[in-house]
Amino acid sequence: MMLAFRGLLRTLRGCHLPNSRRHMSAALKLNVRQALATEAGSGERQQEVIVQGWIRSVRAQKEVLFLHINDGTSLQSLQIVADPTLENRDLSFGSSVEVRGKLVKSLHKKQSIELAAEDIRIIGPCDSLAFPFKQKERHSLDYIRQFPHFRCRTNTFSSLLRIRSEATAAIQSFFKNNDFVHIHTPIITSNDCEGAGELFQVEPTSKVGISGENPHFFNVPAFLTVSGQLHLEVMTGAFTKVFTFGPTFRAENSQSRRHLAEFYMVEAEMSFTESLQDILQVMEDLFKATTAAILSKCPEDVELFHKYVSPGQKDRLEHMLKNKFVIISYTESIEVLKKADDVFTFKPEWGCDLQTEHERHLVKHCGGVPVFVVNYPFDLKPFYMRDNEDGPQHTVAAVDLLVPGIGELCGGSLREDRLEMLHTRLDRLGLEDAYQWYLELRQFGSVPHGGFGMGFERYLQCILGVGNIKDVIPFPRFSHSCPL
Ligand code: 4AD
Ligand code: MG
Repeated sequence: MMLAFRGLLRTLRGCHLPNSRRHMSAALKLNVRQALATEAGSGERQQEVIVQGWIRSVRAQKEVLFLHINDGTSLQSLQIVADPTLENRDLSFGSSVEVRGKLVKSLHKKQSIELAAEDIRIIGPCDSLAFPFKQKERHSLDYIRQFPHFRCRTNTFSSLLRIRSEATAAIQSFFKNNDFVHIHTPIITSNDCEGAGELFQVEPTSKVGISGENPHFFNVPAFLTVSGQLHLEVMTGAFTKVFTFGPTFRAENSQSRRHLAEFYMVEAEMSFTESLQDILQVMEDLFKATTAAILSKCPEDVELFHKYVSPGQKDRLEHMLKNKFVIISYTESIEVLKKADDVFTFKPEWGCDLQTEHERHLVKHCGGVPVFVVNYPFDLKPFYMRDNEDGPQHTVAAVDLLVPGIGELCGGSLREDRLEMLHTRLDRLGLEDAYQWYLELRQFGSVPHGGFGMGFERYLQCILGVGNIKDVIPFPRFSHSCPL
């Protein structure tokens, strides 16, 4: 081992810092993931390479200086071995560097390859004493959340961001493979789809385009979208399957671990659909296909969460994936809750919304498998849901998908496609004029249709076992907080 070190040191001797960029043009530029993947012994091994990144650790020994650099392409950092004379104040944890050298077989059992540095250029030094994160420390999610401008520099959060990116691609693939057309629904809209009054109004900061008799920039009050559903419903007049995936906004005055003011929602809408069952099938397939893709694309990143953030989550997730999701009606759910031994803060009663404590109990009752609760009370749900015309317990064809640890992950329904019934409901709510266009959809070649929305952050919480929604989005926005 010592002999090998001496050989390596011969290669390293003569390096100095900072160095000129001699021979730089001949060197092959690799990212950390590519460098680590050359272990099979391809041509790159012999060639001089350049790798750029941020220092994750520095360890100086008598005969050799070890650095680990990371550039966001993999959880694993690349080990750099350098002459100890290169040790320098600026070669510190957090600094950005460019390293030139040769990829050689590593003697360390943790990695098969390392970079024998011939030249290290410091691009941006970092005062590691003042930097909020420390080398080798595993900072808690609560701690790193305080530094939204730096938390991408931690292993945990960079893993999360890679998983989020893969999940986005997997969702797009799922819909593409199933013949859904991606529709870019608007961010600014004049409707309140959910009718819950949780809207952020949009007006310019200056008075441009606004006159006395016309106080609104868009002539009408306009808002950040709470859901792209109604715009997707427009598309069901010409497409059998559509989806959208974008930011959604809700002015909820909530500090909860499941709510944000800005979150991402995946929404799908299917034409010629008369059965709620068809919608449940797409939800379950989306959940399972996306999760399988993430597990195969970034196993190490997911493992970090399953090992350190939420021990036991791997088994819980496998259980969800290998079992068929359970279907239970709202009415049956209330029966189950009434019989439960748990002491609930909110007493379960038919006609009342299910609270998080109820949702958690139902998932537990169904053996830790996601649960579809179907057919909710008519009076609880928005105007667009299809009337089941049942009674005396009057319901609509709605569904919520409840998942372990989170509660509601998806909400969906069949839509009211019968013109007269929709007309009556909008009339009662005083919305007939505003939704004239929506009524017209039911007059010209209308089809039975339905769809759902899945909260993307809640999905990530569910598969990774992350308790706080603020830890699965790059820049969380919630009431009283919008830094950066
Ligand atoms: O249940 P919701 O309100 O349903 C709709 O908006 C329908 N228009 C969707 C549709 O049918 N196209 O929201 C859907 C999902 C919820 O189940 C939840 O996962 C998530 O969006 N969600 C939130 N996620 C984070 N923060 C919030 N404030 C959320 N509100 C809803
Ligand atoms: Mg809902």
